[in-house]
Amino acid sequence: MGARIAGYGAALPEKVVTNADFAAYLDTSDQWITERTGIRQRHFGGTTGSLAVAAGRDAMDRHGLTGDDIDFVILSTTTPDQTVPATSADVSNELGTRGAAMDINAACAGFVYALVVARGLIDIGMNRILVIGSDTLSRITDQNDRSTAVLFADGAGAVVVERSEEESFLGWDLGVDGSARPILYCDHGGCMYMEGREVFKRAVRVMIGSSEKALKQAGLTGDDVSLLVPHQANLRIIEAANQRLGIPRDRTAIVLDRTGNTSSASIPLALADAGDAGRLHDGDLVLFTGFGAGMTWASLVVRWG
Ligand code: COA
Repeated sequence: MGARIAGYGAALPEKVVTNADFAAYLDTSDQWITERTGIRQRHFGGTTGSLAVAAGRDAMDRHGLTGDDIDFVILSTTTPDQTVPATSADVSNELGTRGAAMDINAACAGFVYALVVARGLIDIGMNRILVIGSDTLSRITDQNDRSTAVLFADGAGAVVVERSEEESFLGWDLGVDGSARPILYCDHGGCMYMEGREVFKRAVRVMIGSSEKALKQAGLTGDDVSLLVPHQANLRIIEAANQRLGIPRDRTAIVLDRTGNTSSASIPLALADAGDAGRLHDGDLVLFTGFGAGMTWASLVVRWG
C-alpha cells in the first residue's frame, strides 16, 4: 500500500497587474522587474477561501470526485481569511467534503509540507486528502514599497493525494531554521518585511540542499528528474537550482512570469500549468521543492500517475 498524487486544479483572480502598472506610480520599471525577478504580471483579488474553493473544485472535477470522496482537507496558507475558524473549515463546507479539515502554515514551503503530511494521513487510514495551497499576499504587502510590491500576489492550486497499490512518494525532506525570522516576516496587522539579498542567498542554499536530500532518499539524482516544480519566487533562484541540481530549464515548471510569488499556491499553480501543457506523463519523476519565511524548506520526489 502506498499513496499517489491524482488530479490537480488551479485558480487565479481575474484582475491582472502588469509591471507597467507598478511603473506608473513607483520608482521601478518593467525592465528592472523582468531582469531581476522574471515576473511580468500577476493576479490580485479574491479571498484565500474563495480561491481555495475554486482550485479545490477544479482538482475534484478533473479527477471525477465529489465531496463525499474526500475525507480530509489540508489548506496550506499564510494568509487565512480570519484567525478563527480555520479557513479550511469554510472551504470544506463550500466543497461539501466529509471528515476533517485543517490549515497549516509553513509559509511558501507549506504546500510541500502539506503533501508530506497528507502522505502520513494515508498511513493512519485516510483514503483521499484534498491538499490546497491558497494565498492572498497582496493583502499583506505594502503596495507603495517597490522592493516587495512587485513580487507578491494571489492565487490557489490543489491536488488530491490518494491511497494506491504502489508507492509514489519516493523521498522527502522538511526543515526549518527559526533563527532566520528577521529577514522575512509579517506581524499581525502589518506588511511583509524582507531583506531580499539575504533571502535570495539562503533560498538557493536550502532549496538545493533539501532537493539533494529528497533525491538521495529516493535513490535518484537530478538526471532522473522528469520535471522540477520549484517555488516560484524569482527566476534567478530557479536558474541557480537548475544549474546545481543538473536539471535543465526545459525540465522545469515555470509560471512566475504570469503569477508572481503566490506563496503556498506557487508550486501547485506551476504543476497545473505544466500538466495543461502536456508536460506530465504517467511514470514521470517529479521533484517539488520550496522555501519560505521561517526559514522553512521542503522537497518531495513523486512518481506521477
Ligand atoms: N525596482 C527598482 N529597483 C528596485 C526594486 C524595484 N522594484 N526593488 C529593489 N530595488 C533596488 C534596491 O532598492 C537596491 O537599490 P540600492 O542599491 O540603491 O539600495 C537595488 O534595487 C538592488 O537591490 P538588491 O536587493 O541588490 O537587488 P537584487 O538583485 O537582490 O534583487 C530581489 C532584489 C528582491 C528581486 C531579490 O533579492 C530577491 O528576489 N530576493 C529573494 C526574494 C524572495 O524570494 N522572497 C520570497 C521568499 S518566499
